[in-house]
Amino acid sequence: MGKKVTVVGAGFYGSTTAQRLAEYDIFETVVLTDIIDGKPAGLALDMNQSRPIEGFETKVVGVTTGPNGEGYEAIEGSDVVVVTAGLPRKPGMSRMDLLEVNAKIVRQVAENIAKYAPNAVVIVVSNPVDEMTALAQLATQFPKNRVFGQAGVLDTARFTNSIAETLAVPVKSVKALTLGSHGDTMVPVPSRCTVDGKPLSDLLPADKIEELVVRTRNGGAEVVALLKTGSAYYAPSAAAARMAKAVVEDSGEVLPVCAWVDGEYGISGVYLGVEAQIGAKGIKKVVEDKLTDTEVAGLKEAAEAVRAKQADVANL
Ligand code: APR
Repeated sequence: MGKKVTVVGAGFYGSTTAQRLAEYDIFETVVLTDIIDGKPAGLALDMNQSRPIEGFETKVVGVTTGPNGEGYEAIEGSDVVVVTAGLPRKPGMSRMDLLEVNAKIVRQVAENIAKYAPNAVVIVVSNPVDEMTALAQLATQFPKNRVFGQAGVLDTARFTNSIAETLAVPVKSVKALTLGSHGDTMVPVPSRCTVDGKPLSDLLPADKIEELVVRTRNGGAEVVALLKTGSAYYAPSAAAARMAKAVVEDSGEVLPVCAWVDGEYGISGVYLGVEAQIGAKGIKKVVEDKLTDTEVAGLKEAAEAVRAKQADVANL
């Protein structure tokens, strides 16, 4: 049987994710859903018309869903569901300002995923993503390894891009890593950054590295401030699509994702940005690697910040 992926939410993030997934040409079907009548069908038609030009066979199917789950039968049999439904932030807003409004949306979406695609791996991108991932797991009651969130692949890409630009080297020369929350307690990890194998600390002074760390933490806000309406979606969709690809290909790749941690780095019982091995059933295992004491402390701080908010989502 061919592979099937669903993207819930046909806004900027969802539609670009669907397009990237279709262009990989590894799925039989990409389902794109939204509550706005006609929007997903129109976008799907438009994407399908690009098939002869881009040369892919994947069929995109657009479906409008209703308040009582109408239309959700289209997601049946999905191997992966990417949840992008929800409001993006406006200039000056933090991701946390979206908590209540997006919790209602993500809960409803998650309940329908549980009903119609009970075997799917769920990748959450709606913000605040650490909390929305916890909520999606609660609402689906799926095993924790089958629900995880997108943040680290994007934050790492932003960090990588800044390092490459600063040093005027190709992005492929740079290896970087970002862990922690997708917010104020994000933990870019300079000790794990190299350029052509050389430690970043040999190439840049500490204050310059700190500047890049701060820019990474504010990476999303920097785009929001320029766009004035809506938030980033090209790099975010690239990240989410890559994660869905790793799942359907059962690739075993280690990627930074928002995963349930159970003892790693001395942290337990919380969804947090860590490195994890990805496979057909979602998270195969969280990978604990060497970090400096400061970085571990940052990760613990992020865990506690996220834990406090994740406790709230159960009631939203
Ligand atoms: N089911 C399906 N889709 C929904 C639902 C729902 N219950 N509620 C809202 N949507 C849809 C909206 O109709 C809209 O088309 O979600 C889409 C969101 O699209 P945009 O407003 O363009 O936002 P986008 O940039 O795609 O961001 C989506 O990802 O990065 C995060 O913070 C961002 O939470 C936001 C999400």
